[in-house]
Amino acid sequence: MSAYRNAVWFVKGLQEYTKSGYEAAARRFRPSDLEVDLSGRVFMITGANSGIGKSAALELAARGGTVHLVCRNESRAEAARQEIVEQSKNQNVHVHIVDMSNPRRVWEFAQSFQSSTLHVLINNAGCMVNQRELTDDGLEKNFATNTLGTYVLTTALIPALQRAEDPRVVTVSSGGMLTQKLSVDDLQCEKSPFDGTAVYAQNKRQQVVLTDRWAAQHKDIHFSCMHPGWADTPAVQTSMPAFHAKMASRLRTEAMGADTVVWLAASAAAREQPSGLFFQDRRAVAAHLPLASSRSSPQEEEKLLAALQEFSLKFKP
Ligand SMILES: NC(=O)c1ccc[n+]([C@@H]2O[C@H](COP(=O)([O-])OP(=O)(O)OC[C@H]3O[C@@H](n4cnc5c(N)ncnc54)[C@H](OP(=O)(O)O)[C@@H]3O)[C@@H](O)[C@H]2O)c1
Repeated sequence: MSAYRNAVWFVKGLQEYTKSGYEAAARRFRPSDLEVDLSGRVFMITGANSGIGKSAALELAARGGTVHLVCRNESRAEAARQEIVEQSKNQNVHVHIVDMSNPRRVWEFAQSFQSSTLHVLINNAGCMVNQRELTDDGLEKNFATNTLGTYVLTTALIPALQRAEDPRVVTVSSGGMLTQKLSVDDLQCEKSPFDGTAVYAQNKRQQVVLTDRWAAQHKDIHFSCMHPGWADTPAVQTSMPAFHAKMASRLRTEAMGADTVVWLAASAAAREQPSGLFFQDRRAVAAHLPLASSRSSPQEEEKLLAALQEFSLKFKP
């Protein structure tokens, strides 16, 4: 089944996830959707010093939004802040140093932000680590960053979001998740030979399941997740060098990858869409490939939520 999913997914990607796929999709975009004044709206973006996150932060700041950049490296974060301020002419851009793979630090940060205003959280930070690597807490690095970090930050910020008008959570998942069925039995990747690409795709599937479950739990917040397409970013260059070399001329720009993030975070049109869906190029799309047998049962999804809650509470300060 996984060979079938990988093959169907790659053919789909060649048509839809490339730069030409974006250009074809963009013919139906309504430019007016993003002609918005975001003054007074507050956005938080993780992994905002680079690639899709930085591009989205710039677009939001350029429209007047206050933007909080959540990054793990102080000098890279400060360089991005300066670039965004310079290009957007908006001074309301702030840096917070948080390693998303450290759940205790994510908790502390979310608690320190609790009384501040937040309209939109964008879970963008992500990684594909190709060897099994553990954090200082003994957590597998991809899981800690992509799934647990996203879970802790989002759930801890729900009360702050609930106080805001038109609150939203946008999670940058990946079309790669289409190759995976939710699997909850080995979240720390201890049981089978380690395959970083599959672990990453599994984490991205977990984000899609979380988005759907959060939407059902919190009707007052608009949740969405999305695939940016295949964009030429440092992550793709370093984690997938062979893919990057082969596809280089066909990859999207960072701004193309960020377009749907910005649309989901800022447009009125996105708010009209049902909560909990998976988007690609400003449109809700299927979260499963045809005949892929990748749907999970409510019991499996409950098990994921329970496991994440247990991990999360273990690190609550
Ligand atoms: N580019 C694509 O084709 C593509 C396709 C599908 C999905 N995505 C998703 O898009 C998102 C953005 O990736 P990108 O392609 O724009 O790559 P990128 O330019 O490398 O950006 C990734 C960002 O995440 C940050 N990050 C990674 N681990 C972190 C941690 N533990 N704590 C805090 N920040 C951390 C990175 O910080 P540092 O600079 O410090 O490393 C960087 O700012 C990711 O979630 C990725 O999975 C990308």
